[in-house]
Amino acid sequence: MSFSNLFRKKSIALIQRDAALGLSDHGVGETTPGHLRRTLGVVDLTSFGIAAVIGAGIFSTIGTAAYNGGPAVVFLFIFTALACAFSAFCYAEFASMIPVAGSAYTYAYASFGELIAWIIGWDLLMEYAIGNIAVAISWSDYFTGLLAGYGIRVPPYLTMDFLTASRGYAQVSELLAQGNTLEQIQAMSGLGSNVYSGYVAWASAPVFGGLRLVCDLPALAIVVLITTLVFVGIQESKRASNVMVALKLAVIVMVIVLGAFYVNPENWSPFAPNGAAGVLKGVSAVFFAYIGFDAISTTAEECRNPQRDLPRGMLYSLIICTVLYILVALVLTGMVNHQSLQVGDPLAYVFGPEGANIPWISGIIAVSAVVAMSTVLLVFQLGQPRIWMAMSRDGLLPKIFSSIHPRFKTPWFSTIITGIVVAVPSLFMNLTEVTDLTSIGTLFAFVLVCGGVLLLNESNPDIERKFRTPYINSQYIAPLLLAIVWLSLFIFNPDAIRSFLSFTDEANPTLGAWEVAKHKIPLFVYIISSFVIVYLCFRRKLSLIPVLGLMSCGYLMTELGITNWLRFSLWLAVGLIIYFLYGYRHSKLGKQDTPADT
Ligand code: ALA
Repeated sequence: MSFSNLFRKKSIALIQRDAALGLSDHGVGETTPGHLRRTLGVVDLTSFGIAAVIGAGIFSTIGTAAYNGGPAVVFLFIFTALACAFSAFCYAEFASMIPVAGSAYTYAYASFGELIAWIIGWDLLMEYAIGNIAVAISWSDYFTGLLAGYGIRVPPYLTMDFLTASRGYAQVSELLAQGNTLEQIQAMSGLGSNVYSGYVAWASAPVFGGLRLVCDLPALAIVVLITTLVFVGIQESKRASNVMVALKLAVIVMVIVLGAFYVNPENWSPFAPNGAAGVLKGVSAVFFAYIGFDAISTTAEECRNPQRDLPRGMLYSLIICTVLYILVALVLTGMVNHQSLQVGDPLAYVFGPEGANIPWISGIIAVSAVVAMSTVLLVFQLGQPRIWMAMSRDGLLPKIFSSIHPRFKTPWFSTIITGIVVAVPSLFMNLTEVTDLTSIGTLFAFVLVCGGVLLLNESNPDIERKFRTPYINSQYIAPLLLAIVWLSLFIFNPDAIRSFLSFTDEANPTLGAWEVAKHKIPLFVYIISSFVIVYLCFRRKLSLIPVLGLMSCGYLMTELGITNWLRFSLWLAVGLIIYFLYGYRHSKLGKQDTPADT
């Protein structure tokens, strides 16, 4: 094995040739050579972005983030939007450089070589597949709520994941042992509705061979249904996507406008009941809500003017979603006490009996949430096989992954594998766990894309790209920003610094030093890296926007907990094993003379 082979690049000339032959990752269903029709304008792109972004995040996971952070969770929405905007510029730069093939995987193959391309491709699978597991679980929450509204009750053990049920059972059993009655426990504020329903699900579940049957059947059903649609060739058309987006937007605006009448400003006080730590617990949930705008970059080949419209589409959809998200967060936390928001369907909940009590609005929200999440599922369930397929066409996965069904003209094998990979875990997995994994995986992709733009500026400053991230010299601004951050910490939150430097946990003094210290490793590495990057900014006058994207996304990653880092590392390690066992040896680049790169 040669080290340099790990970084062999797919030249832009070769990518263009493959695209012309219908072999790019945009060639889903295409069997004849030729280009896709360039029909998308900035409005379509913005709409496509919103279609992929607004889903489980705002309809579901925002509940837990608001529960932990209180109304101050809006600050997290603003910070996360900025991190996404910086990354959007970098995505746009890549997309305009190689507008024939759309995924970050292909950009990386041309710019950094095979190994990094594989890592990004493998990582994107995590974003799409695990993300869809999360969306399916949230879809199930809303769907079963909707059925309940019509008096159809699915047994609770068939609508819940194993972990939530067993944890709920353990927690309620402990409270019962302390002398509380079930009625008292049910009425306890701040317990989270999942705890009691988890108890009910676990206690009522049938037992087979000592194992309780607790699973999320509706989540499985929707994935099977969507996968079947994707398999037989349903493509989300421009018009259908625009209609769905109009529906989502109308409902979100309705929640904001009507909800505003039911806001009780007392619920906003205190604004940050659990301090910065509480707000930061929502990082993964809030970031999850923004995932999807990067999917626009996959349509580069179908844009009338990708260089101009892609950056605009990404930024417009981000701005629209940010404004809506901030308003929704304010309305939700203003309508009810944030402690009651830890539910799977918070938007419907605040209009239910515990909130404004307007059942018909609750019903409309539930129906539109089900539709909104189905479109997110569809977009990602369509997109994911394209990545498998692109990797297979480059020889990094077996040929069958790019096999096209003779009748339906879809990548049938990749689609089925995608269905299985998403459907089976959605039966058993816990929403928080999968949201966390999706967020860390996507943040990693953003970090690589921002880092990629910086690297490219250094290594290939003259390579042609029609859109360039606006250059702002970071030489003095970056050190100044770092100094401001540290100074603010010293002045406004010295406790955070003290607690970071301490090796004991005040809440749990029995924890050993290592148990405390290990959770600080990601932040420690981040702090060191931030000084190195700022030094490089000073020395090399790096472009500020990618630097800010790198730093902000990197910081969000540090907030996702060591357990997530370990799981994520495991995922990457499995990917690397597959690469070395298969991809490295079968790569097409290893078997042909590659045209020289630019
Ligand atoms: N942002 C997408 C959602 O919230 C993934 O469902």
